[in-house]
Amino acid sequence: MIKGIILIGGPMKGTRFRPLSLELPKPLFPVAGFPMIYHHIEACSKVPDLKEVLLIGFYQPNAALNHFIMEVHQEFKLQVRYFQEYQALGTAGGLYHFRDQILAGNPEAFFVMNADVCGDFPLNEMLEFHRKTGNGDTHTMLGTEATQQQSLNYGCIVENKDTHEVVHYVEKPGSYVSSIINCGTYLFSPDIMKYLAAAFQKNQENFCTDSIESSLSPSTKECIFLESEIFMDLASTGKLFVYQTTNFWSQVKSAGATIYANRHYLAIYHRTHPDRLAKNGEGKPTIIGDVYIHPSASVHESATLGPNVTVGKNVVIGEGVRVRESLVLEGSTILDHTLILYSIIGWNSVVGSWSRVEGTPNDPNPNKPFAKLEVSDLFNSEGKLNPSITVIGSNVQIPSEVVILNSLVLPHKDLGRSYKNQIIL
Ligand code: GTP
Repeated sequence: MIKGIILIGGPMKGTRFRPLSLELPKPLFPVAGFPMIYHHIEACSKVPDLKEVLLIGFYQPNAALNHFIMEVHQEFKLQVRYFQEYQALGTAGGLYHFRDQILAGNPEAFFVMNADVCGDFPLNEMLEFHRKTGNGDTHTMLGTEATQQQSLNYGCIVENKDTHEVVHYVEKPGSYVSSIINCGTYLFSPDIMKYLAAAFQKNQENFCTDSIESSLSPSTKECIFLESEIFMDLASTGKLFVYQTTNFWSQVKSAGATIYANRHYLAIYHRTHPDRLAKNGEGKPTIIGDVYIHPSASVHESATLGPNVTVGKNVVIGEGVRVRESLVLEGSTILDHTLILYSIIGWNSVVGSWSRVEGTPNDPNPNKPFAKLEVSDLFNSEGKLNPSITVIGSNVQIPSEVVILNSLVLPHKDLGRSYKNQIIL
C-alpha cells in the first residue's frame, strides 16, 4: 500500500499570492477550473496501490477545505483526511508529528508533495524507479533541469550519473552547484522517520541548551525542514535518489505563476480530460487553443476566448469580449467588448464594457521555452513596480472605457479611472 501526503502550509504562507489568498487558502485556488491540490490528488489517484491522501497543514479546518475534501473523496474514491498542525512545523515537522497516522496500515512508501507546485507529476514512474533503485529503505526525490541562474532559487541536487544517487544537496546555494533542482515531490519509505526522529531529537537538545526565550516557545522545537535538515544529511549515504523528469513543472508562488500553471494543466487535458476543453460550434463563442469554461458560465456567442483561458462557475461574458491567457474566477462578469489579457479577474468582480485589463507575462514566463520561476520582486531597484500580470481581487468594480495595466487591485475596490503599474489598496 502507498499513501499520498500533501503539505498545504497555512495562513501565514502564500503571502506572495495576495490578494488572491486573502479569500481562500492558496492550495484551493482554482487553476484550469480545479483547485491547485485537486491536480495533486488526481495524480495520486492514478497510482494503483494508493488509496489514502493526507493533507497536512496549519489552516484552521474551514468550510472550503471540508467541501473540497468531500468532493475529491467522491470523485476519486480515495480516503482524504486533513491533519492540522497546532502551529507551523516546517516541511518535515508535520510528517513526524503525524507519523502514527502516516505509518498506520504499514505502507510500503508514501509520496510527499508540496502544494505550491504544479506539474504533470510522474508518480507511477517515480514508484517504478524507487522500487528498482532501493530495497525498501531508500527515498526518491523528483528533480528537473533548470538554467544555472534559476537553479540558485531552488534546492540543487548533484547526482551520481550512473546510479542516480544524490551525492550532494544544497538548498538555494549562493553560487552554482547543479542545474538539477528539487521539485518538492518525494517518495519516502517508512525508514525516513528514523531521520526525522534524529532531527527532532537534535532540535530538542539544542533548544534545551539555547536561550531562555526559545524554551518559552515550545512549538518551534518541533519544527523540522526537509530541505535544510534531512536531505543534506541523507545525501551520499546511499539512501537518497533522484528521478529526473522532463514533464512540465513549476512552483506556484505568485499569482502570475497560475497563468503558467493554467496553460499547462489545460494542455494536459488533451490527454486526460478532452471533454473539459471548450469546442467551437454554432451558437457558441469562438475558441482559440485551450479553453476551459465551467458548464454554469454564460459566454456570448460573439465573444472570443483563448488561448489558455479558464472561465469559472457562474461567470457572465458579454458580447464581443476578448479573453486571452487569463483566468476569470467564479461569479465575475465581463461586460461587452472588453479585452482581458494576462490577467486574473477575482471572484464576483465586474469589468465594465469597452475596457482593457492587461498584464505582462512573468514569473515564470509561459512564452519562454525553459520556463521556471525566477525570483521576481514586486519592485525594481528604482522602486517602480515591475511589469506583472494584472490581478483584480474579489468584488472589485471596474468601470467602462478604462485601461488597467500591470496592476494589482485589492478586494472590494470600486475603481473610478484607468491605472497603470500600480497597487491599488
Ligand atoms: P520559499 O521559496 O521560501 O517559499 O521556500 P520553498 O519553496 O522551499 O517553500 P516552503 O518551504 O515555504 O514550502 C514548501 C511547501 O511546504 C509548500 O507547499 C508549503 O505550503 C508547505 N509548507 C511550508 N511550511 C509548512 C509547515 O510549517 N507545515 C506544513 N504542513 N506545510 C508547510
